[in-house]
Amino acid sequence: MAKRGATYICQNCGAVYNRWQGKCDSCGEWNTIAEENAAAPPLPGRPARKGRVFALEPLTGETLDAPRLPAGIAELDRVTGGGFVKGSVLLLGGDPGIGKSTLLIQTAAALANAGHRAIYISGEEAVAQVRLRAERLGLAAAPVELASETSVEDIVATLRTGAQPRLVIIDSIQTMWTDGIDSAPGTVTQVRGSAQALIRYAKQSGAAVILVGHVTKDGQIAGPRVVEHMVDAVMSFEGEGSHQFRILRAVKNRFGPTDEIGVFEMTGGGLRQVLNPSELFLSERDLGSPGTVVFAGIEGTRPLLVEMQALVAPSSLGTPRRAVVGWDQSRLSMVLAVLEAHCGVKLGGYDVYLNVAGGLRIQEPAADLAAAAALVSSLVHASLPPDAVYFGEISLSGAVRPVAQTPARLKEAAKLGFARAVMPEMPRGDGAADSGLTVDAVPALTSLVADIAARGRPARGETRPVRQDG
Ligand code: TYD
Ligand code: MG
Repeated sequence: MAKRGATYICQNCGAVYNRWQGKCDSCGEWNTIAEENAAAPPLPGRPARKGRVFALEPLTGETLDAPRLPAGIAELDRVTGGGFVKGSVLLLGGDPGIGKSTLLIQTAAALANAGHRAIYISGEEAVAQVRLRAERLGLAAAPVELASETSVEDIVATLRTGAQPRLVIIDSIQTMWTDGIDSAPGTVTQVRGSAQALIRYAKQSGAAVILVGHVTKDGQIAGPRVVEHMVDAVMSFEGEGSHQFRILRAVKNRFGPTDEIGVFEMTGGGLRQVLNPSELFLSERDLGSPGTVVFAGIEGTRPLLVEMQALVAPSSLGTPRRAVVGWDQSRLSMVLAVLEAHCGVKLGGYDVYLNVAGGLRIQEPAADLAAAAALVSSLVHASLPPDAVYFGEISLSGAVRPVAQTPARLKEAAKLGFARAVMPEMPRGDGAADSGLTVDAVPALTSLVADIAARGRPARGETRPVRQDG
């Protein structure tokens, strides 16, 4: 007889099935479907439990301001919104080796040195390894309490003894396992169960808990996305392998902003705060070389400045090459067509290469204006102003259209030290005023092209490919 009420639920996305299957059709994950008894009928002869009556409260009333515990690391406190909130749970995601453990041992040491009880539990490294790292960072004297443990029940029982800890770090949630669930550590069910137990502990005790989460190849925190919904804040620690810079971003924050970033530099002595990132980012760039532009983009909900590079060179082929990395090929064709049709930029005899630096993939049409600026700049050998960011959508008529989230783009550009924004005319003129940036409003692509061309010089032996009559 078929079991009544048994359903199969994908532990990753929550899709419900009548029977077990290996792959979830809804989210594409393998081995995430588990049996859950959705509607168990009450046992015969035993009455269903009566609900407990609880008091309802009015909306007005005494509100305790979420008490915060600043880490004393300014770049971190900016991202958390002023410190760790009592009883809250924060998930820190990031690629392996990016510096999550380093950041957290430094945070724990800072709090411990300030007289708070901080506990660091590593499920990945032995106590000796954590000590070794702390020694290298010059933090060995900090009164952080360490353990190498993976059983959530043991951890919670230990945390409940002794003085109330203010900060508990669990590195990482994927290595934790709870007795209540009999699947291997790292599986979705275990990760979810362990996270649930630790969240319950945080809410009951008032300690701030930080969970470290690994990130999969496509940049998502491995394990169930539901963990992201369960915690109060999700931060991601990002950086490029070859560069020393690390950026801490809030992806979600119940108690603070999500558009702030914290910038760090990985040095031999651990992570160092970069309090004025603009200079670093500017010195990173190919300042003043033609064809280089900074695009103020939005990745999901997060503002992100990206460098785009274009190379336009005379072609020796019958059909010139159009190569693009990190952006949409058909959008490039469209921008080239608009440049040709409306701005008199003849690119028929040129190879065109467009590259988005850092291996990023840009999806938004807001990159049109930046791409066009880079292309024209490379074509006429004119460098673009290095303190300016570009964004805006280009329509087929050659007009430059406003794009979403302009204030967020401007805020990020101002934060990173840019002084000017070349952007569409804003219908209401809003957003730009309080960012502190000088705005060059571009109504149509022709005016941008004329501006850039006016500063350019044709390379030796070439005729000028841009008409100067308009
Ligand atoms: P780690 O914090 O272990 O990364 P995660 O926990 O995110 O996996 O950082 C490991 C990397 O950081 C490693 O490649 C070495 C580098 N590192 C330094 O460059 N300087 C340091 O002082 C420390 C501790 C690590
Ligand atoms: Mg680690």
